[in-house]
Amino acid sequence: MRVGVIGTGYVGLVVGACLAETGNDVICGDVDAEKIAALKQSQIPIYEPGLEQLVERNIAVGRLRFTTDIPEVTRESDIIFIAVGTPPGEDGSADLRHVLGVAEAVGDSMDAEKVVVTKSTVPVGTAALVRKTIESRSSHPVHVCSNPEFLKEGAAVEDFMRPDRVVLGVASPKARQVLGELYEPFVRTGNPIIFMDIASAELTKYVANAMLATRISLMNEVARMCELTGADVALVRRGVGSDHRIGPTFLFPGPGYGGSCFPKDIKALIRTAEERGYDFKILRAVEEVNEAQKLLFLAKIEKHFGPELSGRTFAVWGLAFKAGTDDMRESPSIVLIEGLLARGAAVRVHDPAALPTARQLFGERVRYFERDYDALEGADALVVMTDWLEYRRPNFQRVKDLMRTAVVFDARNLYEAMRMRELKYVYYPLGREAVT
Ligand SMILES: NC(=O)c1ccc[n+]([C@@H]2O[C@H](COP(=O)([O-])OP(=O)(O)OC[C@H]3O[C@@H](n4cnc5c(N)ncnc54)[C@H](O)[C@@H]3O)[C@@H](O)[C@H]2O)c1
Repeated sequence: MRVGVIGTGYVGLVVGACLAETGNDVICGDVDAEKIAALKQSQIPIYEPGLEQLVERNIAVGRLRFTTDIPEVTRESDIIFIAVGTPPGEDGSADLRHVLGVAEAVGDSMDAEKVVVTKSTVPVGTAALVRKTIESRSSHPVHVCSNPEFLKEGAAVEDFMRPDRVVLGVASPKARQVLGELYEPFVRTGNPIIFMDIASAELTKYVANAMLATRISLMNEVARMCELTGADVALVRRGVGSDHRIGPTFLFPGPGYGGSCFPKDIKALIRTAEERGYDFKILRAVEEVNEAQKLLFLAKIEKHFGPELSGRTFAVWGLAFKAGTDDMRESPSIVLIEGLLARGAAVRVHDPAALPTARQLFGERVRYFERDYDALEGADALVVMTDWLEYRRPNFQRVKDLMRTAVVFDARNLYEAMRMRELKYVYYPLGREAVT
């Protein structure tokens, strides 16, 4: 099939590369000329395991092309995915400017019947707006569908190639047939393609993210309760998560959720509800808990060192909002680092993937280290913010030798209190007994 993908960010690039891998002719378009020039040379602007090889291979065999010419993408495709960003607007609602801008460009350059798919996460009713926009500019038939994306950054290729399910909101037999065929190679092991009406598909994506964010905020509050009662959140998590009705995933407490999706999608769903006169109380609480959680480790640091941190140095391990990505959008590490800087501290940071992103955010205000141990030199404390594998089993003697004082704040509960006690560390985990 001839497939076009408009927007080549985390989602669009993965979608384009994976659809090329299954034999389709894919043309990807983006307004970012620098990004497109790099992609033409197989240079991937993001860190995503397996993606570079996929892009390289499919460019080489001629199944994957890149352009800044959006009308060309429209003309040369029968199916067009819209995968541009939907950032939060000032009132929290999803800003549809990019999506509708693409719909206008597609409408203006339609030369035949097309299937147009909203892949971006968009509020209920957006596919209808996209259809209206295209139809107001073209008389060719258009089948607008909703196909929300559930991939996780850090495992995006794997998730797209072997999805738990594919959700397709369609309104015509033609759209159902074309998209069913396109996705058939990805569900050969029996995971379902779930066809539904468009509004249900649009809402499904928000509800999935709302459910996951709710689990995180709930467990972050449970961690607080554990600290108040002397319980251990790791044991509570195991005890609760082994109930089949609950399941073990997404029950790890941490420094608060971040990333490009949960924060904005929770806001957008609250806003969609408000627009219809409904107060989505649980989600407002989920958001409130998350904002407070991002400040928790600053409070622990202040409790240990006092409010004035000038003259103190902090090493921060982990900047990405989660392991496996270089994405720092809404990362709790930003709140932590800005808080430390505002209190006069010096900050030395390490991350296996996100240092280039961090440089754009903090400039000269922090010091960057390519090797994790180098960040520790002379530090009064280490703060672990992201659960990268390489942080899990450090050489604690070496860590201690490098630091001015052996104090560790562990927002991911990577270490064992007993071992930290033996090694004479002061150790602050989350929702478990501290070693002081
Ligand atoms: N990142 C994720 O993990 C993830 C997962 C599922 C769904 N989503 C959703 O997918 C959508 C895209 O997210 P992302 O993380 O890939 O965003 P991104 O910011 O990484 O990429 C968006 C791309 O769209 C391009 N763009 C913007 N306006 C354009 C236009 N008018 N024409 C052509 N290109 C344009 C930008 O230059 C950018 O390259 C969002 O709605 C997001 O919520 C993201």
